[in-house]
Amino acid sequence: MKRREFIIKSAQGGVALTLGTTLLSCLDTDKKTITMKNVSPISICTWGFIDANATAGKALDGGMTALDAAIKGVAVEEENLKNTTVGKGGAPDREGNVTLDACVMDSSGDCGAVVCVENITNVAALARVVMEETPHVMLAGKGAEELAYKKGFKAEKLLTDSSENAYREWLKTSEYKPIINIENHDTIGMLCMDGNGDIAGACTTSGLSYKMKGRVGDSPIIGSGLFIDNEIGGAAATGMGEEIMKTVGSFLIVELMRQGKSPQEACEEAVQRIVAKNNNIENFQVAYIALNKKGETGSFCIHPGFAMMEYKNGINNRIESKAVLKS
Ligand code: GLY
Repeated sequence: MKRREFIIKSAQGGVALTLGTTLLSCLDTDKKTITMKNVSPISICTWGFIDANATAGKALDGGMTALDAAIKGVAVEEENLKNTTVGKGGAPDREGNVTLDACVMDSSGDCGAVVCVENITNVAALARVVMEETPHVMLAGKGAEELAYKKGFKAEKLLTDSSENAYREWLKTSEYKPIINIENHDTIGMLCMDGNGDIAGACTTSGLSYKMKGRVGDSPIIGSGLFIDNEIGGAAATGMGEEIMKTVGSFLIVELMRQGKSPQEACEEAVQRIVAKNNNIENFQVAYIALNKKGETGSFCIHPGFAMMEYKNGINNRIESKAVLKS
């Protein structure tokens, strides 16, 4: 059942009553394959997440829709225990709790997000549930977690032994330096164009390591961590969420592309807007990726070391991004 039908039913029958029955009746996820038009599917993602991007790219080649492929792709990192910045295995907040943020946006302009979610690994898939099966765009904390259980997601311990050991080391000094990884990876943002030429995306993260309890970054914020306009293209962000949110970076990039800029030019301008407002850019990283309707891509970052993955025609390329600063 789609959001519009849900709203109508809610208006007719009362939200509380309808919510329970609606969720139960939506347990079947009607994933569909598409009849490919003459479009080469493309998948791009932040950082060197080779397997995640290949998973999405191959799924697109097989006829999967852009939204399904993006969620399938980012799930690889959400489930990767070695990745300490996304999903299960992510670094905890200052109190030792792993809290995850994610959003998705589809080619119709619909979107969903979850913030500060504990005990659920595949939060991008959960964001899709919010988008498709509730009248809302964003659910936080316990509300999102309860929805997940109703939809059949299982509770999992997200703090791994190695993340817990690293946290215990950090506790010895508790030095709070909100410096998001400069050379290493963090958030995975993924943009997919399917065989119909439709674009969708997903963005998922555990956010800043040892963040304040309740802190939410850019990743689940539509327009900041991710934005799609299927007439123009899409953009996704990684890095210091506070700076990305202040400039609504992904929305900005799509609007710059609407004005005629290439994905590369648009990413560069969005990064430069952050640089112009900060005199401490040596202390944090921000990077963007973008894709337009012609299948052109671009990426740009503050610090060298950021790479974008690009899958097209069966080839998964790692593309080192140009940066504002020199190494
Ligand atoms: N970009 C991830 C975060 O700031 O949480």
